[in-house]
Amino acid sequence: MMIAIAGKGGVGKSTVATMLTLALGKESLVLAVDADPNPTLAEKLGMDARTTLAQVREGSREAGADGVPKHEAVALRTRMALEEGEGFDLLTMGRPEGRGCYCYINNVLKGTLEDMSDRYPWVVVDNEAGMEHLSRGLLPSVDALVIVSDATPAGLRTAGRIAELADELGLDGVKRVMLVNRIRGQGEISSPRSAGVLVLMPADPELEIMDMEGEPVQLDRISTATRAALGRLIASIRDP
Ligand SMILES: Nc1ncnc2c1ncn2[C@@H]1O[C@H](COP(=O)(O)OP(=O)(O)OP(=O)(O)O)[C@@H](O)[C@H]1O
Ligand SMILES: [Mg+2]
Repeated sequence: MMIAIAGKGGVGKSTVATMLTLALGKESLVLAVDADPNPTLAEKLGMDARTTLAQVREGSREAGADGVPKHEAVALRTRMALEEGEGFDLLTMGRPEGRGCYCYINNVLKGTLEDMSDRYPWVVVDNEAGMEHLSRGLLPSVDALVIVSDATPAGLRTAGRIAELADELGLDGVKRVMLVNRIRGQGEISSPRSAGVLVLMPADPELEIMDMEGEPVQLDRISTATRAALGRLIASIRDP
């Protein structure tokens, strides 16, 4: 099952992607994909991302010279870009060097997801802010879209627009969860239309501390309320 995390900048997409990866990884293997050209998932998961898909692209230029068909060489290198964690594998997209265009690496990402996603019970894709990957059709078989938002009216309107765009892109049949993050005792929160099931996640000082200190996200340090919210998020994603 492929879960895509979307939302505007800084709302907590990567943190949520990390918590999902760690929690789901306790029971079955997760492929965590950092599709943000400015990657942060490795750090949050406590891994060092040595190889990115973008570097695979660079490497594939000279591949094929030794008689190995190019697509096989690329597939091999892609597998080399996988970092093994506990309960998950991590794939970091990276970015093209210099003035390089994103088209190629985006297509590599798409092909890789098509190729690899069947091998994992769960695929969690952390995206850059906005809807770039979804709108370009780079996430071929998303089963659940988690839209992360802050609790401000402007933030919720943005989340609503992302949900509308997802409808226009034909993702209206895809399961949708609206995660309002970093709640600090706000009153009523009305989920924008078509944003899906509403899950509220509290502001958790421990998450802030781990981030400030450059430490990975550790589930045993988050509050009971945050853990409960994570449980509700997973239940909503799973809900048939
Ligand atoms: N529930 C929470 N409670 C407290 N802090 C949180 C919570 N969720 C996320 N944060 C903090 O919010 C900040 C932004 O989080 P994160 O990097 O996950 O956002 P993002 O949406 O991935 O950002 P970007 O758009 O830059 O990729 C981080 O400092 C993170 O620790
Ligand atoms: Mg992020």
